[in-house]
Amino acid sequence: MADAETRLYGVIGFPVRHSLSPVMHNAAFKALGINAIYLAFEVPPERLGDAMEGVRALGISGLNVTMPHKGAVIHFLDSLSEDSGEIGSVNTVVNRKGKLEGHTTDGLGARRALERAIELGGRKILIIGAGGAGKAIAYELSKDNEVVVLNRTLEKAKALERFGIMGDALNRENLGKYLEWAEVLINATSVGMNSWETPVPGEMLRKDLVVMDIVYKPLKTRLLTEAELRGCKTVDGLWMLVYQGIESFRLWTGFKPDEGLMRGAALEGISE
Ligand code: ATR
Repeated sequence: MADAETRLYGVIGFPVRHSLSPVMHNAAFKALGINAIYLAFEVPPERLGDAMEGVRALGISGLNVTMPHKGAVIHFLDSLSEDSGEIGSVNTVVNRKGKLEGHTTDGLGARRALERAIELGGRKILIIGAGGAGKAIAYELSKDNEVVVLNRTLEKAKALERFGIMGDALNRENLGKYLEWAEVLINATSVGMNSWETPVPGEMLRKDLVVMDIVYKPLKTRLLTEAELRGCKTVDGLWMLVYQGIESFRLWTGFKPDEGLMRGAALEGISE
C-alpha cells in the first residue's frame, strides 16, 4: 500500500509504454520490503526539461532514462559519473538530497550478462552498433579487453577510437575479417527487434564464438537462433536488461535485488 512515506521512482522515455522496468523494479521493491513505487512516464523530447524540473519539485527519488533522452537529459543534471560523462549517455538518475546525479549502467549490465556465460579474461570482443547502448558496452568492456566496434554509420564507430577502441564500417568484408579475430560477438543494434532480421549472416558464425544480443523481443532473436544452431554459447538481451536494472536499483537503494526475481518479473511482463 502506498502511503505518505512512499518513495517514487520511474522511467522516462518516448515511447515508454512497453518498458519492462516497472514490473522488474516493483517486484524488487516488494521482495525487499522497500516502501517505494516505480512508474513509467512518457515524456516527449520538448518536455524533457519540464519533466526534470518536476523530478526536483516533487522529490522523485530516482529515474531510469531511455530512448530518446539518454543524451539530452545530461543538460538537466547536477553531476555525472565518469562513465556517463565520457560516453555522453545517462540511463540512471539518482536524486541525492535534491542534487540530480547521472549514471550509466548499460555497460556494467552487459558485462554481468556476459559473465553468466563465460569468464571474459582477455577475450577479444566484436560489437556491432555504436548507438547509445553500443557505446556504453564498448566503453565498459574496453577497460579490460580488446574491443572492435562496427557500425553502419562509420563516423560513430570512429568516434570511439579516442577510448582506444577500434572502429570500422559495418559491411560483409569487415564482418568476415573481425569475426575471424573475435571470440565474443555482441549485437548492440536494433536489428532483429520485432523482426526476423539479423545483423550477421548465420553462415559467418563459428562454433567457438560466444554470441550476445541486446535485443530481447523476441527473446530468441534470429542471431541467437542461428548461433545456437552452430553450437555457440549465447546470452539473450533480457539478461542485460535485468543486470542494468539491478545496477540502477543498487545506486538508488544500496540493495541488490535477486536476478532470478527480476528476470521472472520481466518475462511475465514480456508475455502480457
Ligand atoms: P540504442 O540506444 O538502443 O543503442 P540508438 O542510439 O538509436 O539506440 O542506436 C541504434 C544502433 O542500431 C545504431 O548503431 C544504428 O546504426 P547507425 O548509427 O548507423 O544509425 C544501428 N542500426 C539501426 N538499424 C540498423 C540497420 N538496419 N542496419 C545496421 N545498423 C542499424
